[in-house]
Amino acid sequence: MYKRYLITSALPYANGPVHIGHLAGVYVPADIYARYLRLRGRDVVFIGGSDEHGVPITIKARHLGVSPQDVVDKYHNMIKDSFERFGITFDIYSRTTSRTHHETASAFFRKLYDDEKFIEQTSEQFYDEESGQFLADRYIVGTCPKCGFERAYGDQCESCGSTLSSNELINPKSAISGSIPVLRQTSHWYLPLDRYQDFLEDWILNGHKEWKTNVYGQCKSWLDQGLQPRAVSRDLSWGVPIPVEGAEGKVLYVWFDAPIGYISNTKELLPDTWELYWKDAETKLVHFIGKDNIVFHCIVFPSMLKAHGDFILPDNVPANEFLNLEGDKISTSGNWAIWLHEYLDELPGKEDVLRYALCANAPETKDNDFTWKDFQTRNNSELVAILGNFINRALSLTQRYFDGKVPEINDLTDYDREVIAEIPVIRKEVETAIETFKFREALKKAMDLSRLGNKYLADTEPWKIAKTDMNRVATILNISLQISANLSIILEPFLPFSMKKLRRMLNIDALEWDKLGTANLLSEGHQLAVPELLFDKIEDDVIEAQINKLQATKKSNASPPPSPHKEGEQVSNIAPQKETIQFDDFGKMDVRTVTVVAAERVPKTDKLLKLTIDTGLDTRIIVSGIAEFYQPEEIIGKQVCVLVNLAQRKIKGIESQGMILMAKNASGKMCLVQPSEKIDNGAEVG
Ligand code: 2FM
Ligand code: ZN
Repeated sequence: MYKRYLITSALPYANGPVHIGHLAGVYVPADIYARYLRLRGRDVVFIGGSDEHGVPITIKARHLGVSPQDVVDKYHNMIKDSFERFGITFDIYSRTTSRTHHETASAFFRKLYDDEKFIEQTSEQFYDEESGQFLADRYIVGTCPKCGFERAYGDQCESCGSTLSSNELINPKSAISGSIPVLRQTSHWYLPLDRYQDFLEDWILNGHKEWKTNVYGQCKSWLDQGLQPRAVSRDLSWGVPIPVEGAEGKVLYVWFDAPIGYISNTKELLPDTWELYWKDAETKLVHFIGKDNIVFHCIVFPSMLKAHGDFILPDNVPANEFLNLEGDKISTSGNWAIWLHEYLDELPGKEDVLRYALCANAPETKDNDFTWKDFQTRNNSELVAILGNFINRALSLTQRYFDGKVPEINDLTDYDREVIAEIPVIRKEVETAIETFKFREALKKAMDLSRLGNKYLADTEPWKIAKTDMNRVATILNISLQISANLSIILEPFLPFSMKKLRRMLNIDALEWDKLGTANLLSEGHQLAVPELLFDKIEDDVIEAQINKLQATKKSNASPPPSPHKEGEQVSNIAPQKETIQFDDFGKMDVRTVTVVAAERVPKTDKLLKLTIDTGLDTRIIVSGIAEFYQPEEIIGKQVCVLVNLAQRKIKGIESQGMILMAKNASGKMCLVQPSEKIDNGAEVG
């Protein structure tokens, strides 16, 4: 057995919030594993943090007109906060812009450099003479040589999905200045992965046959192709500067510095003892990642660690496949996602339902699909109907017949003994499944304990024998309560919020894993608290609102973006300017800021919403043709601009008193015109 466990979870890029794909692939399983090991009394360190370097962050910053630091500050805080609210129990959640990380990553590079573990190579790369910088692949756009799409990136065409290299693009242009880039010589440091080929083949292909098939298979395929040197530096200003004289304007490649973040964050957490976790062979290192990170964690990072020489290697890398959403690939840029922070705001108190649905349907061996309907079924038919129902019956019957005190256990029947004997069997199954990273199976087995409890109550029917044999009822309820206490342990790693609630109802403190498996966790006479429902049913309207929200995204994604115009071509799809008016003409319009206080669809129409607005002057009704773009629940509470002195008119039998200002583009997409910050209702716009 290992003396200690070091669990790392992929550091998410701090250029957007986290979504359910990240959770199902990485953070939910990692958290279950960490919680389980802690319950077993193991020495565990669980590392998280934000990955704050890399080109996409600089692109986002440029796009928003802010600094890369502003971007990562915003998303780091947002991600950290939502993980906390969701109950992901990192021992530290730090960031790769931290001082400790810059020092650690820099020293790591320097050691490899001093030990001559790198090779230096000069190559030609695109350079933007106008902005005076080398261009990362993402900063070069041009025509895809495969499909002719005119806005392909230097590394990928988002139209046909081909992986490209920037010198393949036809008519490449700088995405920064629009100028035509020139090829210039630049030199970079490369980690010669080919030198580690033999070591990796032996270590993975012979030494880790137990790794998940998807992980082992991907490693084998990389190794079979023969490894090549990989550049570990970039010409960029955002990142960890290369600590070598003459390397000005160069930083570590983000995939070189990010995994070192695991080391930096351990150091930040445990300045005095971190080395035990990284250098002692009795530490078990496990990396939780998604499948797109396999090569970096199984090939590149281990080669870096090996080159350095001081560090242990991962014992396992249980990478998951991808989670899709309602049949489509999750896409951050396309907003096709369920964002964790929004989920937490919109479905408060339902953290465990999402943890449950994501674990029960985790993409462990193949890509899987998340649907809101499945989410509802998992809640209503499993959490409510099986687990919640059992706990509720056990506790309510004890309340009814024994004033909420654990009744005494009397003579056991063979059936009682069989049921009790099943508890340690389930414990063993759950342990085996968790320790082999089969979290879906582990959860299913753990839920089997509540299935067992339900069946036991249904078979023994204590409510029927209460009139004739209270001794028997006492035994049945005692056993049912012991099962409930066992459930509070076995489900703790999966459903921590609900198990805390269950412990409150059982009036017990948290129990260690080692207590699991026996029928004497609650002593006779122990007073329980008044039972509450462990889970609530999720009604159709809640699910429909979420589905509608996604459909609105789909619709707005479907409106074609303005076509990229070719050089010398007129932009023709913007409506021409209208005829000139005098200042007085404009002065006749009374436009005010108002708040939408209620919204509903106008029956038998597709496009119309009936809005009740607070104009500051009065409350009035406006009928607006925006139902295609906004759901009623989305628009309530929004502050918008309204032409309030437009002559009243009747629309579908409703008097409409004003007009909401909307922006409309050539493809017909519309959006609300809103004040940039909150202002009084009734403020004049002009
Ligand atoms: O794929 C990603 O989101 C990366 N930011 C993961 C980095 S994992 C580790 F190396 F830090
Ligand atoms: Zn293409």
